[in-house]
Amino acid sequence: MSRPQVAAARPSTRTALPACLDSGRLPAHVAVIMDGNGRWANQRGLPRVMGHRQGVEALKRTLRLCSDWGIGTLTAYAFSTENWSRPGEEVSFLMTLFEQVLARELEALQQEQVRIRFLGDLSALPDGLQALIAEATKRSAANSGIHFNVCTNYGSRSELVHATRALARRVHAGELDPEAIDENLLAAELHTSGEVDPDLLIRTSGEHRLSNFLLWQLAYAEIHVTDVLWPDFDAEALTLALQDFQGRQRRFGGVEAGE
Ligand code: FPP
Repeated sequence: MSRPQVAAARPSTRTALPACLDSGRLPAHVAVIMDGNGRWANQRGLPRVMGHRQGVEALKRTLRLCSDWGIGTLTAYAFSTENWSRPGEEVSFLMTLFEQVLARELEALQQEQVRIRFLGDLSALPDGLQALIAEATKRSAANSGIHFNVCTNYGSRSELVHATRALARRVHAGELDPEAIDENLLAAELHTSGEVDPDLLIRTSGEHRLSNFLLWQLAYAEIHVTDVLWPDFDAEALTLALQDFQGRQRRFGGVEAGE
């Protein structure tokens, strides 16, 4: 897949890549588990939902930085299949927040040439949100800038079950030989079809867990865990994550030359 180029649609506010980073060795795809919104709010004596509001600002900041610095794809975990078990008011708040933010930011996303997609079982989302997602996806599909994937009602195991069922249906219909099933065919049935796999996973707030996020796609990703709570995630935190990434030796199961 060709790497998207970031269009020059947002003059004057572009942030330069920090000198400590090598522009030739940036990850093509960064995935983030945005954790710590609730704790950020608790620490300030605020309701948890205020943490989510600030989390949106951190996500916008991160998207712009990734776009400015030439990272091709950003995939963010916004709402997991397990998040429905949160208190009803928090779930409703998040659904309304997604809707408000999407409606408010759609024009800016267009101007900045962002190609947005929502990955997950979208059929369970409120109708208004589904309609906005459909509009945003359609309007931005041909955009030439960063690919921005928002995982919403996403669960990796469920994604793998759906992919397996899709392949099984094709076998059952006589269209596919089971022996022809390989990694590429399975990957093509995942929500992330068409994207390169993430090179770097960032998880905020210090937890060392994958939480059912992109289990297949993260097979060879480098993992960076930071204690920074998601609403505080900024250029400095992203720079540290990228520096950490650039300090890793990626072997993909092989060995370094000379070892
Ligand atoms: C995890 O923090 C965060 C979430 C479950 C929600 C993340 C959503 C956003 C940042 C908004 C994204 C908005 C759009 C439009 C895509 P937590 O609540 O689990 O925090 P805690 O672990 O401290 O309780």
